[in-house]
Amino acid sequence: STDKRLERVKEKVAAIPDFPKKGILFRDLFPVLTFPDVFKGLISLMSEYVKDAHPDCEGIIGLESRGFLYGPMIAQELNVSFVPVRKKGKLPGELVQVTYQLEYGTDTFEMQKNSLKPGQKVVIVDDLLATGGTMAAAVELVQQVGGIAQCGLVVIELVDLKGREKIQGTVKSFLQYS
Ligand code: PRP
Ligand code: ADE
Ligand code: MG
Repeated sequence: STDKRLERVKEKVAAIPDFPKKGILFRDLFPVLTFPDVFKGLISLMSEYVKDAHPDCEGIIGLESRGFLYGPMIAQELNVSFVPVRKKGKLPGELVQVTYQLEYGTDTFEMQKNSLKPGQKVVIVDDLLATGGTMAAAVELVQQVGGIAQCGLVVIELVDLKGREKIQGTVKSFLQYS
């Protein structure tokens, strides 16, 4: 039985052909955020998943940019810390860095060296899993700063791109598209 909250999210997801490049079908979650009750339902669904699957979760990692829309809200709901992974050049202090491939390009992620305590258990949150390059890079960064990634949590998974295979550990998605 599919959760009613998820049905309502699904109704609001937009599909835009040939954006940002020809051949890419862009799945847009921003329409969901224009309906506060639908967005709240999505956050409660994601938070409940973490509570059930990882009751010992000690932090949420959010991936710039779109992971920042969901991560802090889930962290608040769970009453755990939120820690950002940012694109190159945005974070101060001592950093670790990973360069990765995207469905439509390449980018570099950074995380502060002292941002997690040794062995801290965290869930990594993003909006969407495509080729998996982004999530795999985040898992690597969490490991580099001494944390333990319990799972990657995304709203949407583009299953045909097989991003899941690139990631060591569990990935949980709520909506799957071909
Ligand atoms: C998008 C999306 C995911 C990533 C998924 O981010 O938000 O983070 O691509 O792609 P992958 O699985 O192939 O790595 P993008 O880098 O476009 O930027 P944004 O979040 O800043 O909009
Ligand atoms: N990020 C990577 N691929 C994407 C897609 N097809 N739609 C939305 N965001 C994406
Ligand atoms: Mg992103």
